[in-house]
Amino acid sequence: MSTAANDLRTSAGKGAAYRFPPGFQRNLLWFAFRRLRPANPILLFQHLAQKYGDIAHYKIGWNHIVFLNHPDYIRETLVVQNDNFIKERTVQRTKMLLGAGMITSEGAEHRSQRQVAQPAFHRQRIPEYANTMVAEGARMRDRWQPGEQRDIAIDMMHLTLNVVAQTLFAADLRDEVDELASAINRIMGLYNFLVMLPAAEWLVYARPPGLAAFVRARKRIDAVVYRMIAAHRQRGSHGSTLLDMMLAASPDQTPASEQSLRDQVITIFLAGYETVANALSWTWYLLSQNPECERRFHHEIDRELQGRLPTFDDVPRLCYVDMVLAESMRLYPPAWAMGRYARHDFQLGDFVLPAKTTVLMSQFITHRDPRFFPDPLRFDPERFTPEARSRRTKLTYFPFGAGVRQCIGESFACMEGVLLLATLAQKWKLNLVPGHPVEPEPLITLRPKYGMKMIVEPRTPSSTGS
Ligand code: HEM
Repeated sequence: MSTAANDLRTSAGKGAAYRFPPGFQRNLLWFAFRRLRPANPILLFQHLAQKYGDIAHYKIGWNHIVFLNHPDYIRETLVVQNDNFIKERTVQRTKMLLGAGMITSEGAEHRSQRQVAQPAFHRQRIPEYANTMVAEGARMRDRWQPGEQRDIAIDMMHLTLNVVAQTLFAADLRDEVDELASAINRIMGLYNFLVMLPAAEWLVYARPPGLAAFVRARKRIDAVVYRMIAAHRQRGSHGSTLLDMMLAASPDQTPASEQSLRDQVITIFLAGYETVANALSWTWYLLSQNPECERRFHHEIDRELQGRLPTFDDVPRLCYVDMVLAESMRLYPPAWAMGRYARHDFQLGDFVLPAKTTVLMSQFITHRDPRFFPDPLRFDPERFTPEARSRRTKLTYFPFGAGVRQCIGESFACMEGVLLLATLAQKWKLNLVPGHPVEPEPLITLRPKYGMKMIVEPRTPSSTGS
C-alpha cells in the first residue's frame, strides 16, 4: 500500500483535470473476488480514516469511491452541493427489499412521496402517538417475568414494529409480528451477501439457493403489507393516518399503483422500526455497562414520573433519558453509513472528482473521532447537555442524516425512544447475561450480531426518586 503523499495524483478525463484524494492504489474488486464473503465495511472505513484522514479514495472496478470523515466535507455533500448528489446506485440493493419508497426514490417522485407523508410527521401530530407508544411499552413490561433471560433485541423489534403499525397505519399486527420480524431477519441475514453479489437484481429471478430464501421472505412481508392495505380499504378511510394519506394519493388500484403503495408502506415500516429497535437495544446494553449513568437514569425517571406512566408532556422533563439515548446513538448509530452518487464532476476542498463517483460517509466512524468526541469510546451522556450540543460543530453528530433527505421520522423516533425507555425502566433493570458476546453487525442498520441476551431484574421505583 502506498503512502498518502504518493497517492495525491491527478488524471485527465474528458478534458477535466481530476485531483484525487489519497487512498488505496489497489482496486478493491480484487479483494471482492478473492474473498467472496464480504469484509466488514466498518473495518475498511476505520482503516481509511486512520491511514488517510478526512477524505480517502479507492476504486472498485471502474467506480471511483471517496470516503469522507470530516464534517465540512459531509456538510458539503449532504447540504451545500446536495443537488449534485443522488442516492441512485448506493441504494440499489436496498431497493430489492424496499422498492421505490421514500428512502430510495429520487427527484420529483421523492418530493411527492415526502409531501404525502409529511403531515403524519408534523410536530402537531407527534403528541397523538405518545399514548400508543406508552401503552405498547406497558404491555411488554407486564409480560416480562422476574429473573427471566430475554433477547432484548427481539423484544425491541416486536415493540417498535407494533408501535409503527398502530400509530402510522392504524393496524394491529400483533398476530403477525413474529412472521414479519422473522422474514425481515431472514433478509437482513442475506443483506451483506446481496451487497457483494454482482447483478443480484437479475440473479434474483434465477433463484440460486441464497436468493430463493430472500424471495420467499419478501413474499411473506408483501403478503402482510397487502393484507393490511386491503383491511384498511375495507374499513373505509378515516382520513388521518399515514396510510389514509398514501391511499388518497394513489386512488386507482392498478397493479403499478398497488406496487408503489406497497413500496411506500414497507419503507416506512422498515425505516421506522428497525432503527428505533436497534437504538433501544444498544441503550439497554450501554446502561448495563455503566452503573453510575444507569443510576442517574433511574433517578430521573422516578423523580419525574413518581410511579405513573409517562405522557407526551413528560418528554421534555426526561432530559437525562434523552441524553442517554443521544449518546447511545453516537456510539452505536442505527444508520451507521450513508452513500451518495455524483451526477457531475465536483470539488471537495482541494480535490476534484469525476461524475459517477460514489461518496460514502459513516456515522459510526465520525461519531468515534477523538477530534470531535474526546475519549470517544467512553459512554458519557454529558456530551449531550443542551450547552454541549449547541457548542458542537454541525455534522460531527448526524444519526438522522442532514439536508433535504434528513430523516422524516426524527421527532417521532426521539419521542418513542424516551417514552419506551422510561416506561420499561420504571419496572425493570436489564443486566447483560454474563459472557454474552456483543458485537455490532453493519447491515442496513447496525444490529447486535448475536442479539442482546439480558436478564430482567425487577426494580422498585422510590416514590421521591431520591
Ligand atoms: C433512531 C431512529 C432513526 C434513525 C437513526 C434514522 C436515521 C435516518 C437517516 C440517517 C436517514 C437519512 C438517510 C440518507 O440520507 O441517506 C433517514 C431517512 C429516513 N427515515 Fe429515518 N431514522 C430513524 C427513525 C425513523 C422513523 C421512526 C421513521 C418513520 C416512522 C423514519 C423514516 C425515514 C424515512 C422515510 C427516511 C427517508 C427520508 C427521505 O429520503 O426524504 N426514520 N433516517
